[in-house]
Amino acid sequence: MNVGKENAAMAALDFVEDGMTLGLGSGSTAEIFLERLGERVAGGMKVQGVPTSQRTAQVAKEHGVPLIEPDKVESIQLTIDGADEVDPQFSLIKGGGACLLREKIIAHASERMVVIVDPSKMVDTLGAFALPIEVDPFAMALTAEKIYAALMKSGCSDATTVLRQNKDGSGPLITDGGHFILDSECKKIPKPAETAHLLSKIPGVMEHGLFIDLADVIIIGETDHAKVMELARE
Ligand code: 5RP
Repeated sequence: MNVGKENAAMAALDFVEDGMTLGLGSGSTAEIFLERLGERVAGGMKVQGVPTSQRTAQVAKEHGVPLIEPDKVESIQLTIDGADEVDPQFSLIKGGGACLLREKIIAHASERMVVIVDPSKMVDTLGAFALPIEVDPFAMALTAEKIYAALMKSGCSDATTVLRQNKDGSGPLITDGGHFILDSECKKIPKPAETAHLLSKIPGVMEHGLFIDLADVIIIGETDHAKVMELARE
């Protein structure tokens, strides 16, 4: 068990209020949160969740967390999700679990986003974790060239991009939305907002894993407590 992830997930419950519609993130930390949320639901708390992946929907069901289709919600008050990297400006790399497109749609639609991580995810500069980019399979080599150009133009000194494979060796990973994931190892992304902007302009890019100006709260789970950092947005 990762105590840091557990403590972060527990602390996120403080942000959940009765009656809320929640965006439910994906990944191992988000799954711990779902387990704890399920305990609250069993105790009488009334919430409903919009899952960001098929896997999250399945885990939420296992823990008795009620789900709702994204197009049936009036508003989403809060999204709770994990991250692969977090920088001091609360910019994130996400998509290690290949769910970044749906995660970003739901985070963007939410009034607030709480990110739950262990201390290993905190970095000074994003980029040591290879940046996941969800692409349409059509003309992927052309899209990969454009991605490389965008990374170079926005100050990344080099980038090696690989097509993500299924862990069982059965071929390229296909996301819930039917796309591929290119992982771009940049080592450092010195200007994440500029990189994000340039990547978003490439037609074959469905979405990229840079989450800029989306996270409001970062909860870092330490071994014996959780540190909560809030960003005041204007
Ligand atoms: C999935 C994600 C996850 O939030 C991210 O990979 C962190 O995962 P974990 O909580 O397992 O460390 O972005 O697409």
